[in-house]
Amino acid sequence: MATTLIRGGTVVNADVSERADVLIKDGQIVAVGEGLSGDTVIDAGGCYVMPGGIDPHTHMDMPFMGTSTADDYESGTMAGLAGGTTMTVDFCLPAPGESLLKAYQAWRHKGEKAAADYSFHMAITQWSPMIHDEMETVVKTYGINTFKHFMAYKGALMVNDDELYNSFKRCAQLGALPLVHAENGDVVARMQADLLARGVTGPEGHSYSRPPEVEGEAANRAIMIADMAGVPLYIVHVSCEQTHDAIRRAKQAGQRVYGEPLVQYLVLDDSEYQNKDWDHAAGRVMSPPFRNKKHQDSLWAGLQSGTLSVVATDHATFTRAQKRMGAKNFTQIPNGTGGLEDRMPVLWTAGVNTGRLTKEEFVAATSTNIAKILNMYPRKGVVRAGADADIVIWDPKGTKTITAKKQISRIEYNVFEGFKCTGVPRTVISRGKIAWDQGDMRAKAGDGDFVARKPNAPVNQAFSIWKGITQPKGVERIEVTP
Ligand code: URP
Ligand code: ZN
Ligand code: ZN
Repeated sequence: MATTLIRGGTVVNADVSERADVLIKDGQIVAVGEGLSGDTVIDAGGCYVMPGGIDPHTHMDMPFMGTSTADDYESGTMAGLAGGTTMTVDFCLPAPGESLLKAYQAWRHKGEKAAADYSFHMAITQWSPMIHDEMETVVKTYGINTFKHFMAYKGALMVNDDELYNSFKRCAQLGALPLVHAENGDVVARMQADLLARGVTGPEGHSYSRPPEVEGEAANRAIMIADMAGVPLYIVHVSCEQTHDAIRRAKQAGQRVYGEPLVQYLVLDDSEYQNKDWDHAAGRVMSPPFRNKKHQDSLWAGLQSGTLSVVATDHATFTRAQKRMGAKNFTQIPNGTGGLEDRMPVLWTAGVNTGRLTKEEFVAATSTNIAKILNMYPRKGVVRAGADADIVIWDPKGTKTITAKKQISRIEYNVFEGFKCTGVPRTVISRGKIAWDQGDMRAKAGDGDFVARKPNAPVNQAFSIWKGITQPKGVERIEVTP
């Protein structure tokens, strides 16, 4: 089998950067070092050679709020590749009561069009003995070690505390990691109703009905429930100081809790919802909503200090026409924004070029940390011998102004419209093949593979309600089972 050599670049990993060539064979990295030779040579002079980005939070072809997201696995994964992201992790969403196994089959079918590697989180939208049993198959047979729980979207995907605790306990038994969308769905529903009754029907009502306290309360609750269930926790789309603070305190107390801010939250703020152009404001409606600068500073501080681990996009795109389903009532605007193509250039520009993040921290936040959290490391998330050859050749001096006119995503607008990036991908390699090169999309629908992920070792069930409590004599450990 012929080899490919990436020559003359600086390899940037999360732990160290070094001048080195990278040799690829059969879709894998076989050597990293100086003076290597190969059959086909790609010149990376003046560039960084980094692990391909991993976006752990996307929604392709997702039925939601009476419609379906505009990007499917083909356009979504291609948008990712054009932005340096070589792997996405999406969500299987069974309707409440539906079999997890059936949902998995349906999502695998959708994924057949993927142009880059992908994996799934499984959503738990109801609790029952069937779900309890099926979770084992999902983990052991299907290779999904993460389960998502919505604490919002009342009457649709939302689960209550009883369901959360049962599912978290099951995750602990299976060595799986629970994820939460942290917002108090009961309070949101009441605030929405109050706002509508007062005549607030526009997109600004979306932001008023979901203040940071709604998110902070749910995050604190989920963290406590995870502690009682004896399981680590991953909080998706962390948007505010209240949630970050809850994570910080939990970490300080020794709990394993991970936080995932979105790139949108780092650079865009809640003034977007006051825009007089309804389409503009509605195009930014997502949950949780964008926040003010104080919260942005908190998220940046979390990435800098390591209390927040991963930058994602929650890529969930809806066209203008779809957004207009909520023209008379903000609660019916489909929630979601895009960002897959923009995540890495925007984070580099706003993070590395400003000195907030080092280039190694950038790699950690866009690839390595999530590869470790999801148990894919070192197959993914690192440039080293033995890893998949998912690589982005990054031009730190390359520029681009983001515009919907040139994007791959199938919507007519872009929340980052006009954002000037310095630092862009030049060539993107997916399992050893050039997938995208300076604007030329070479990957095709179907090139991506499903990535199965093994469970972690089941966590110690001696959970924290025994912390500080004298154990009864003669009892080694007390099991509390759901
Ligand atoms: O508004 C959002 N975030 N839409 C996608 C679904 C979700 O909550 O992640
Ligand atoms: Zn969510
Ligand atoms: Zn989401």
